[in-house]
Amino acid sequence: MMKHEPLLTSFREAGQGHVFAYFDELSPDAQQTLLAQAAEVDLAEIGRLTRTLLAKDAVAGVNVEGLQPAPYESRPEQGGDVAQWAEAKAVGEAALRAGRVAAFTVAGGQGTRLGYDGPKGTFPVTPLKRKPLFQIFAEKILAAGKRYGRPLHWFIMTSHQNHAATEAFLAEHDYFGLERARVHCFRQGRMPAVGFDGKILLETKGTIALSPDGHGGSLRALARSGALDLMEREGIDTLSYFQVDNPLVRCIDPAFVGWHLRRGSEMSSKMVPKAYPEEKVGHFCVQHGRLVVIEYSDLPMALQRETDARGNLRYPAGSIALHVIDREFVRRMASGGEGVALPFHRADKKIATIDATGTPVKPEKANGVKFEMFVFDALPFAKNPVVIETLRANDFSPVKNAEGADSPKTCRDDQLRQFARWLKANGADVAVDATGLPAATIEVSPLFGYDEDSFADAWARLEPKPAVAEGLYLG
Ligand code: UD1
Repeated sequence: MMKHEPLLTSFREAGQGHVFAYFDELSPDAQQTLLAQAAEVDLAEIGRLTRTLLAKDAVAGVNVEGLQPAPYESRPEQGGDVAQWAEAKAVGEAALRAGRVAAFTVAGGQGTRLGYDGPKGTFPVTPLKRKPLFQIFAEKILAAGKRYGRPLHWFIMTSHQNHAATEAFLAEHDYFGLERARVHCFRQGRMPAVGFDGKILLETKGTIALSPDGHGGSLRALARSGALDLMEREGIDTLSYFQVDNPLVRCIDPAFVGWHLRRGSEMSSKMVPKAYPEEKVGHFCVQHGRLVVIEYSDLPMALQRETDARGNLRYPAGSIALHVIDREFVRRMASGGEGVALPFHRADKKIATIDATGTPVKPEKANGVKFEMFVFDALPFAKNPVVIETLRANDFSPVKNAEGADSPKTCRDDQLRQFARWLKANGADVAVDATGLPAATIEVSPLFGYDEDSFADAWARLEPKPAVAEGLYLG
């Protein structure tokens, strides 16, 4: 019996034998590619998902029974406890000085909405220097390492599709000043797409239609890639998780880390009050005593718009996908032990596949299902999860769409507003409009200042102070 026979047999037994329908027509190399892809597929998992998510009587959407708004720690300016925030910051700073924290970017998404060809992290976003997203994060991480006297490790989750391009880009730019040995790119897992009948779809005669397994796949990928072991060897127990699309993010925020550590939390989150009831963000809620995030697409519109007696939104807490996560919690979740696995979500999509004659076709309507995991689905499993409030202007302005909301334009303006705010708070004369947008195009390098505190310190040292004029770059 040839070596690949057992694999073929297991596919046949799982009702997926068609994956090898064209096997004999393929070149030896192409056969190897298909076998390697097939070996990635967890047939039992696909069987389970097909039986549950694809079943005729599968319940669409999420169950909202017993849903309550999630409690959160308000910012000091919003009535939060000033002393507790100060203490949290001190605890976070101590953890950073002890080298316990690493940065973690999820960058495996396909970035289809932006219509940009290339890893999203290479997309230029800053107002003057047109720095790409990866450069901003790298510089923030570098600067934070200097501030706390302990250089930080940076983990980046890529996809099969963008891994090589991401690594090449970072190498070409010399890791934007970070030590090469502290930058770790690793690939997330893939899942096969299936037809509505549960059959795995082929993209071509010799390839399976595989796609990234969602940012929730990051937990498995951190374990599989050896990142968790590396963290353990380096004495790192805390990951600061953020998305690749958000240059405003404080990649390293001592107060956030501190709240997480003080509470003995396994996974903590930042929220912003929703800008308007229909804003397309996840909602922090509590259900049966557990913290959950319910996506905007799953929360009935009546609940998204529901208000309390004072006219405030009942579910105001929007998720901006920022988390601090405990290393051993990731290990526990990734082990997939009884009852701790992340659920998969079903997304009906147009999936490029082949027709009955083996000819590639691009469908015009959804022809199958992709399965994805979401990282926030780990929250219900976490001990002592904390949600803290943050100011949108300090942490969140993603680039998701080519135009309109969350676009390069809105993100550029939000960066400009942030730079202007920092300058004004430190006594500089900056002309701004009613929305805080400065008249001059200015840019602050993260290497000069990457948050309010580091900016204030750098500005205080700067002599002479430059006038704020068109083209001012503080680097
Ligand atoms: C996401 C959140 C939403 C939150 C919003 C804030 C989900 C389902 N929704 O929406 O609750 O309010 O961000 O901006 O997550 N990624 C991977 N691998 C994947 C898929 C995604 O690494 O397989 C990464 C992307 O590169 C990106 C991030 O995850 O950094 C977010 O992915 P995206 O699909 O753009 O999420 P949104 O739908 O915008």
